[in-house]
Amino acid sequence: MDTIKKLKAGKTTGADLMHLAKLSDGMLQKIRDEMLEPFPRKVPPIVSSARLQEMCGIDKQRMGYVLKKGELPAGTQAKPGSPRQFTVEETIAWIRSERNPLPRNGPAKVIVVANFKGGVTKTTTSTLLAQGLSMRRGRRVLHIDLDPQGSASTLYGINPHAEVDSSQTVMPLIEAYLEGKPFDMTALPVPTYWPNVDIIPSSTELFNAEFMLPARAASDGEVRFEQVLHDGLAQLKDTYDYIIVDTAPTLSYLTINAIFAADGVIVPVVPDMLSFASMVQFWHLFGDLINGMQAFDDGRAKEFDFVDVLVTRMTSKPAAQILQGWITQIYGSRVVPIEIPESDLARNTNMRFSTFYDLGPNDVGAETLRRIRTPVDQLVDRVDDKVCAIWAQEE
Ligand SMILES: Nc1ncnc2c1ncn2[C@@H]1O[C@H](COP(=O)(O)OP(=O)(O)OP(=O)(O)O)[C@@H](O)[C@H]1O
Ligand SMILES: [Mg+2]
Repeated sequence: MDTIKKLKAGKTTGADLMHLAKLSDGMLQKIRDEMLEPFPRKVPPIVSSARLQEMCGIDKQRMGYVLKKGELPAGTQAKPGSPRQFTVEETIAWIRSERNPLPRNGPAKVIVVANFKGGVTKTTTSTLLAQGLSMRRGRRVLHIDLDPQGSASTLYGINPHAEVDSSQTVMPLIEAYLEGKPFDMTALPVPTYWPNVDIIPSSTELFNAEFMLPARAASDGEVRFEQVLHDGLAQLKDTYDYIIVDTAPTLSYLTINAIFAADGVIVPVVPDMLSFASMVQFWHLFGDLINGMQAFDDGRAKEFDFVDVLVTRMTSKPAAQILQGWITQIYGSRVVPIEIPESDLARNTNMRFSTFYDLGPNDVGAETLRRIRTPVDQLVDRVDDKVCAIWAQEE
């Protein structure tokens, strides 16, 4: 009897849950503020001259020659003769001049990172792509956080719960669409701490889209609820080279919108059995979704420039090797020939609201950093090379 009473006394009410939400909000804000100290905002990393040379594809001699000419930023030195260090902004100036990436030809490419399975590094991958395309290729990038959980926003040092209201997310685009009104998308992107990367952040209120879009579609069969983002992004495609979209681990109406807006889709997969099994469901849903969609207004069917599978959190464990073999066997040339390894560093930097691209040369051992950073550098370069080839074809 006593036990029953105790259990009853311990019942959890809605008010208790709201209290828990408030406590979590407070704690997240406190942790974030402590992490970012002494700055109120995140700051981009410093870049060593060795890293700058690698990214530009030049050697020490060439760097010395360019420095002598004095046309590019000289970075800073702790004292004369010591290694130079550069800001990300300075690095981008070097990249644009020395690497000389092909200029964008045609509208921005929309790359969506999606998998309905949770925890497969969608957010980490999309953020690294945004940072990497800016730093390594001098691209202008818009990152759209379409996950109401707001993890990507968090990696930019934004607290989606305390600092973002729905008017700053893609919600006004959806509301305007549902009301049949035009909407100025150029008002939404805001700069981040990372040069040349803007963001449209997320907030919990994005969940409302999941009720609003189907309600409208049910009352009006003609409504193209899956095209809202696609149509809205058209206004931004001259401003950016890339629009990278992070999605939630569900087949939500927002994810459907992202997929419909995508030129390229990257599907990260972790080589474990549950992740592999859920991929089967993913392809069914993805295929059904695209086949079931009506054509564009001009009659074209939806096509993608690429749909790639990226193996992440790869380990040397036999089970992971077997699964990776199956993945390659099934998805063939769609599998990106780069494995992102399981890495404590990747996990730990996320814990600090960062990615390992946020780390400077003195933050961590060079070898530990290189192990995880090199394959991601290769991924960023591969995406840009692929898109450049597509831009060239579209000429
Ligand atoms: N290379 C890596 N090695 C080990 N852990 C990693 C790696 N990359 C990311 N992680 C960790 O894996 C977890 C999931 O990453 P992330 O949040 O990017 O996945 P997600 O697919 O966006 O998750 P969700 O489905 O919840 O949105 C995080 O704890 C992150 O720190
Ligand atoms: Mg995520």
